[in-house]
Amino acid sequence: MAQINPSILSADFARLAEEAKAVEGADWLHVDVMDNHFVPNLTLGVPIVEALSKATDTPLDCHLMIEDADRWAPSYVEAGAGSVTFHAEAAAAPVRLAREIRAKGARASMALKPATPIEPYEDLLPELDMLLIMTVEPGFGGQAFLDIMLPKIRRTRELISKHGLELWLQVDGGVSAATIERCAEAGADVFVAGSAVYGAADPAAAVRDLRGLADVATAAAPWACDH
Ligand code: DX5
Ligand code: ZN
Repeated sequence: MAQINPSILSADFARLAEEAKAVEGADWLHVDVMDNHFVPNLTLGVPIVEALSKATDTPLDCHLMIEDADRWAPSYVEAGAGSVTFHAEAAAAPVRLAREIRAKGARASMALKPATPIEPYEDLLPELDMLLIMTVEPGFGGQAFLDIMLPKIRRTRELISKHGLELWLQVDGGVSAATIERCAEAGADVFVAGSAVYGAADPAAAVRDLRGLADVATAAAPWACDH
């Protein structure tokens, strides 16, 4: 079944505990950490992740848009994140970092900005629990989905099948009722949605609707035939 991860970047930061409760039933809560260096925006860090992990039962999917990921990512596992995503462009030693995240007890994930190809990372995929393909330039919520990323999603799904990996394939940026089916058809199985969930009158219903659309599109997708 498709996993839907609401992004709290589009939530009310003054009411994070309530905003987390508003999407109970979501698979993970997506937490965007930005340092104003890797991306031109500043959001939150370890103390807020720690507080949020105590305030909700939904596991936290931390997306680190920060420089020097090697140094900081392990702290997010200690803060309570169940999954930690670092950017390939910001990690000096991605294999060592993924192993460290796993050893500390979280799922290890790596993200690719739109201009970063998947092919150089083919041999690293077994070290990861999830691969995140950005479908906008990271930094802000509410941007338009980049259709030009669909071929990369397809190629990544092919690599996952070729190597028989249990790797989740996440998409993040501009995912909505209008775009989620294209992502699922191309091979994504974990969907981050910020404005499409928190901009809706009923965020929990938006999560269910997105999951429904993704499940139907996945069932019809060639890549999922043998699932
Ligand atoms: C963007 C963040 C996304 C953002 C998505 O850099 O990584 O997680 O919250 O927001 P929407 O779904 O509105 O594009
Ligand atoms: Zn994100």
